[in-house]
Amino acid sequence: MKDPNRTSPLHENAVHESAWKHVTGRAQFVNDMPLPPHCLVSKIVVSPVAHGIIKQIDTSEALKVPGVVAVITAKDIPGVNDASSWAHDEELLASKEVNCIGQNIALVLGETYEACEEGAAKVKVDIDPLEAIIDIRDAIAKNSMLPGCHIIARGDLDEAWKNADFILEGEVESPGQEHWYLETHCAQAEVNEDNDVIIYASSQCPTGVQGKAAEILGIDASHVVCIMPRMGGGFGGKETQGAQYGGLAALGAWITRRPVRVWLNRDDDMAWSGKRHPFLSKYKAAFKNDGTILGLHVVSWANSGWAEDLSMCILDRCLYHLDGCYYIPALHFEGYTAKTNLPSNTAFRGFGGPQGFMVTETVLNRAARRLGMDPLDIRIKNYYGDAPRNMMQYETPLKNFRVPMMTDRVIKSARYWERKAEIDAFNAKSRYIKRGIGFMPVKFGISFTNTMLNQAGALVLVYTDGSVAINHGGSEMGQGLHTKMVTIASHNLGIKPEHIRLMNTRTDKVPNTSATAASSGTDLNGAAIKNACDQITARLRKVVAKHLDLAESDIDKIVFDNGLCLAPGKDPVDIVKVINWAYADRVQLSAAGYYATPDIYYDVDKGRGKPFAYYSYGVCVLEIELNTLTGEYQLRDVEAIHDVGDAIIPSIDRGQVEGAFAQGYGWLSCEELVWGADGSLKTHSPATYKIPTYGTIPEPEHFRLSLLEDATAEAVHGSKAVGEPPFVLALALVQALEHAIIACGEDPKKDPQIHWPATPESVLRAIYKQRGDL
Ligand code: MTE
Ligand code: HPA
Ligand code: MOS
Repeated sequence: MKDPNRTSPLHENAVHESAWKHVTGRAQFVNDMPLPPHCLVSKIVVSPVAHGIIKQIDTSEALKVPGVVAVITAKDIPGVNDASSWAHDEELLASKEVNCIGQNIALVLGETYEACEEGAAKVKVDIDPLEAIIDIRDAIAKNSMLPGCHIIARGDLDEAWKNADFILEGEVESPGQEHWYLETHCAQAEVNEDNDVIIYASSQCPTGVQGKAAEILGIDASHVVCIMPRMGGGFGGKETQGAQYGGLAALGAWITRRPVRVWLNRDDDMAWSGKRHPFLSKYKAAFKNDGTILGLHVVSWANSGWAEDLSMCILDRCLYHLDGCYYIPALHFEGYTAKTNLPSNTAFRGFGGPQGFMVTETVLNRAARRLGMDPLDIRIKNYYGDAPRNMMQYETPLKNFRVPMMTDRVIKSARYWERKAEIDAFNAKSRYIKRGIGFMPVKFGISFTNTMLNQAGALVLVYTDGSVAINHGGSEMGQGLHTKMVTIASHNLGIKPEHIRLMNTRTDKVPNTSATAASSGTDLNGAAIKNACDQITARLRKVVAKHLDLAESDIDKIVFDNGLCLAPGKDPVDIVKVINWAYADRVQLSAAGYYATPDIYYDVDKGRGKPFAYYSYGVCVLEIELNTLTGEYQLRDVEAIHDVGDAIIPSIDRGQVEGAFAQGYGWLSCEELVWGADGSLKTHSPATYKIPTYGTIPEPEHFRLSLLEDATAEAVHGSKAVGEPPFVLALALVQALEHAIIACGEDPKKDPQIHWPATPESVLRAIYKQRGDL
């Protein structure tokens, strides 16, 4: 909450620091930087087959193309031929085996893109094809699995089956998703007189790019600097997968001694890079006739593509979210990462969480139908509550569970029951147009599932004119992290935001940083910035006490606010004057800040621990209207409440909630990845892969997303993470579509069979099946 005695920008609406640059086109992304003198551009030669053994790579014809300067293959790599985040299972340039269409084989460097394209087409790669596994069911049948299995179990499932009034068994499949960041993968590298490698990369993890480049070149990490000005979106797609392009640019620059830019055009980016993991889950669930869930057994497989990347962590997050918002006394959650010959799938907003929710929400919908219960009632019935109904699957009690309260509020404000009755009356009269309403509660764990990654650093430099340069390890991808960091520094230093300069993220300013991911960019980097500012103001307080002759007991009462120093019983002093007192007294005006999330741990072998610092909550009611002749449907109305704590900048969080909802809605409704039997992506351009657009979202009066005001303090300045959790709100579509489709058939107890994403074709099929016509 806003402190009435402070005028700092904390907890006030603000415009994104780059908003004007974004809308006027002046914001510079890596590929917008003017090419440095002698810079080479490139084209990557990739595998045309999903699986095979490389017999020979012949670059001789490519090298004859005018303008082609070099063709780099695995044998040219001076260090380690690897592009993986940690598993060491992905070659940067394939040397023996290729495992998916789109896997890197060679890098063609040239004076122009045209020359590189022509050269790439002339690189002859002789491959003996092997059998390829594309489909997850095929992978399961052939036991094609990556290493690792995670099990979380508790309670007595045998008892649950015995005591159940009924048992449901079935499968749930959730689809993949292309990130469709507006800026495709890009990196540029050059080597200086000291053999330092400077890389500009569009990456959520500059430290990952730095480390990978050093490993590939066989040089010290201290000789590599990765600079990250901003990304045009990452959404998880640049958490690990930017590293290979930074690595390729560095390799090209190292070998040719010329600057090198690696940039993927849209089709190549879509066809070659990893996406959201599709999941297949098999479940068995025990219920009482009053709707209470007694037990849930789930086995989930993530379609990981050909390499591990983040698959295991993503699977972990799926298992951590299979409980949804519900207390399940007996459970067994088991997960595997299936290996297929597709591009290696990777982080995507929600990171396995949405895939986990999808399973349990589907099970509850089925149980409700069977009982003739409303899907909302069965949810409320099973919500977490007071002990012992507050124990989560990994045996940590859930605290501050706010979803029941938020549910009450949204039911009233969205008029759930009245509208449900209105819709049923409408559907009874309307032959071709049917409507549906859905509700979704969200509880999303905040912290990296890999505990080690929950740390961050910052470097704050105060200059004698009263201006400040702040550095932190997080990266800006449109989510407003930098704007929030300026706000936090301004509040804690008492210096106006216009005098705070946020510097590019660079590995030579803040080392060993985690990716900006897991929605924890603000929690971690904000706390590190605050820590640095607190060190500086602690020193300034002593300086003020000396110069103003304050009593020892008054030191803690000094406030720095918006350019002024306010000390008890004294006239306000300009902060620039205080800074100059400090400089004259030879007091350090810079500080390195650090933060590590306390009190989180997890034991994978036991399936026990406290993986998350806290939970983010949301509820959503949405209504759709379906044209049963075409299978097309539209969002009529959305009402959501999201708990973002005491927002650092409410207007930015609102944008995150809206954007995440829209992206989640796209995942379930229109974004369809179609793979050929040969493992090639058929939908690799906006002509064939449909993302939600402006027209998907209703007018503001029918798109009411609000932030919960009476927030509980969880992270820095009482804020809560916001980047990913609201993505899950869109799952309200599952119920809404089921509601409308059931209205097309005769039997309200018949389960709709929707294949996700629910494109018009998919919905038409489900309608025919509901009517018994298919
Ligand atoms: N918002 C925009 N505009 N662009 C993005 O790429 N990525 C999302 C989310 N919001 C993203 C975004 C993802 S996947 C995450 S994990 C968080 O932002 C990361 O940033 P944060 O931790 O600073 O919220
Ligand atoms: N979210 C995003 N990225 C991650 C995580 C996570 O929980 N764990 C490791 N990398
Ligand atoms: Mo977000 S998927 O954690 O980058």
